[in-house]
Amino acid sequence: MEKLNFFRLLINRIYYFFFVERFSKKLIFDFPKNIYRWDLIQFLIDKHKFQNYLEIGCDKDQSFSRIKINNKVGVDPISGGTIRTSSNNFFIKNKDTFDIIFIDGLHHYHQVLKDINNSLNILNNNGFILVHDCLPRTLAQQAVPRYRGSWQGDVWKAIVELRTIKNLDIITCKIDFGVAIIRKKKNQNPLEIDCVNFSKLKFKNYYYNHEKLMNIVDYKKTLETL
Ligand SMILES: C[S@@+](CC[C@H](N)C(=O)[O-])C[C@H]1O[C@@H](n2cnc3c(N)ncnc32)[C@H](O)[C@@H]1O
Repeated sequence: MEKLNFFRLLINRIYYFFFVERFSKKLIFDFPKNIYRWDLIQFLIDKHKFQNYLEIGCDKDQSFSRIKINNKVGVDPISGGTIRTSSNNFFIKNKDTFDIIFIDGLHHYHQVLKDINNSLNILNNNGFILVHDCLPRTLAQQAVPRYRGSWQGDVWKAIVELRTIKNLDIITCKIDFGVAIIRKKKNQNPLEIDCVNFSKLKFKNYYYNHEKLMNIVDYKKTLETL
């Protein structure tokens, strides 16, 4: 996990306040207790008898160590997993394909979009890409540059952008700060949105439209549809 410098966080906060956005309302998601990202990942692995798992961003292997599967690869430049490098470097060299890919690396819109697009290129037929931290509750939790310890980043903007694509089907499961599930198939609920630069989306817009933007589905219904 990146080391946080107090003065850097303060400068970022001031910058965000004056130059990006001010908005004080908070969302309440009531994520179910005791259901975590690794429960959803393992459900998919068991149900579809998957053999190959890739995780981008492993930290202390909180998820990676819990996943039971024949072949697992974890990529992180700092700690955890099996390969010590950035996701960009990994995707340049990698020649393997995977049944299920969990993206939880650098939580910046541009990097998440890159990680998802690179993952789509190496996803086996009928595979899944899962993306963590898609449902921030406050402006601060999603601010880039980061100015808060507990932080999901602006991953949500990448999901909103991909929700407009016709041949990607995406839901966001309402567990554990939001786990988006991406499949290469006809979009069942395409998002229509008048937006040219998704990195400039505002938290205020997400606050008032998050159900539609993210296509949020609760855990029970998610399991029924996968
Ligand atoms: C939120 S943590 C991952 C947590 C873990 N997946 C879990 O389920 O608890 C984010 C991790 O992403 C890593 N990371 C940061 N930049 C990255 C990059 N460019 N490529 C891959 N991993 C990155 C960080 O080192 C950190 O360990």
